[in-house]
Amino acid sequence: MAKLGGRGGHSEGDTVGRPLCIAMIPPDRLRALVRPRRGDTERQGAGALIALLRKARARGVGWRGQAPDRQVREALRAAGVVAAAVGQPEALPLTDLAQLAAEGPLLVVVEAPQSADALRDWLSELAALRAPTLRVALHRVPRCAAPHFRGDVDVVLTGVGPATALQPACSRCAVVDSCAGAHPSAHVQPLALPVSNQFDLVEMPSVAVPDSLPTDDVARHLWLQTADGLRRFRCDNTGWTTGQLADVLNDLGQAWLDVSEKARLDDFATDLRALRRIRPAERQADGTWRPALWEPAEGTPFAEAEAALGGSLAELTGLVVDIGAGPIRYLKTLAERIASGALRYVAVEPDAAELQRTAAALPGAMLTRGVGERLPLQTGCADHVLMLRSFNHLRDVPAAFAEASRVARPGATLLVVDNVAFGLARTQAQISRARAIAVNETPFEHYRNANADAAVAAIDATGDWQIGSVQSVGPGRANQWMVRAKRR
Ligand SMILES: C[S@@+](CC[C@H](N)C(=O)[O-])C[C@H]1O[C@@H](n2cnc3c(N)ncnc32)[C@H](O)[C@@H]1O
Repeated sequence: MAKLGGRGGHSEGDTVGRPLCIAMIPPDRLRALVRPRRGDTERQGAGALIALLRKARARGVGWRGQAPDRQVREALRAAGVVAAAVGQPEALPLTDLAQLAAEGPLLVVVEAPQSADALRDWLSELAALRAPTLRVALHRVPRCAAPHFRGDVDVVLTGVGPATALQPACSRCAVVDSCAGAHPSAHVQPLALPVSNQFDLVEMPSVAVPDSLPTDDVARHLWLQTADGLRRFRCDNTGWTTGQLADVLNDLGQAWLDVSEKARLDDFATDLRALRRIRPAERQADGTWRPALWEPAEGTPFAEAEAALGGSLAELTGLVVDIGAGPIRYLKTLAERIASGALRYVAVEPDAAELQRTAAALPGAMLTRGVGERLPLQTGCADHVLMLRSFNHLRDVPAAFAEASRVARPGATLLVVDNVAFGLARTQAQISRARAIAVNETPFEHYRNANADAAVAAIDATGDWQIGSVQSVGPGRANQWMVRAKRR
């Protein structure tokens, strides 16, 4: 099965959108499609390919035959990919593909040319077409076969496609070990495993707080003193280590009580009640622990964090690029700013369904399907770059900040907001509701639960931004942090 990885390559000064549509079709199927079937003219074969690509674009991530597994689908979606056309240059009908690309960006993956001449001819035809939205990646093509063609994006397809007829020559080449084209596996980046940003503390039959528990047991328990009595919760998810649980609960104070009836929590300010520690855990002489005791806290830390963020957004002027815009929370603020002419707003979001919902709710916004790692935007266009709770979803943090730097004009601002993990105390009924949500309804996963320091380090690593203010997470505050920076 095809696997897409790779480093988003783009040429300096490039203003063409990053590929939003890659038709992902196993090459053998593609070849069967583009090769005229018996009785078909060549033209009919090409027509079938175009029809397939068009259908894939309309549907979202597209494939033909057996669907790729979830991890591959997610990798494709995370890369802003809809579908992929893979083939030998001889079999890729350029004029038709250019026509399709005129309807929106399209990436074609060229692999295994039969000869360097065939590839050169195909690339010259491509250059003559001057189709800016038709982008090309070379796959398993030795660099010497197209020394002047860098490609628009790097793509890795594993375990598919024929070996190039050029490869025997590679074995006699001095640079074979460093030639990415000859060694596509050198590009393969293992897919990160998604992580949850929250652990459940499930309500158990109540028992009095014991005086002594082993370390692991005490880290997994939360005793809550309420007006109605003592409640006991326990985290049974062994994916969370004792140390991680202690960091989240004890150091950061991020324990919350689910007070909603929703399966999917979407408004933490009203869905969650803050918990605060009345008494810390105490280590006993024998190395065991007396557990901490918690109580519901007054105040609405999420509402306070949101108010601070909303206030910042209400002051923005000029062109704003919102990376991972998702279900835009600040519609009212943004809509007013856009309507007043103070703000031009560009949302970049990989999830097509979210974009469609936003389109209806935010007239005047520019909505682009794409990922932070490859922004489909012009260099230096943005006065402000927002990354609101999408940092933890990025596959490739350095690539995303390199892109943020690229699109920001000197003096532009960057606002990065995200959440550290938190513990959620829930009843059995709340847990059952939440776990009934189909996994494929949450395709864009978290890959980390980073804190503000991690974001600062990633922003600093670009050398392009001056860090302004940093708001970290701690007890009594929401699990939301915020970093502001200014483009040098
Ligand atoms: C938790 S939501 C945040 C949405 C919105 N910005 C907010 O603050 O409510 C995270 C969003 O990041 C998007 N996302 C996932 N991977 C992404 C990537 N590689 N680049 C940009 N956005 C991504 C998801 O589709 C999702 O809409």
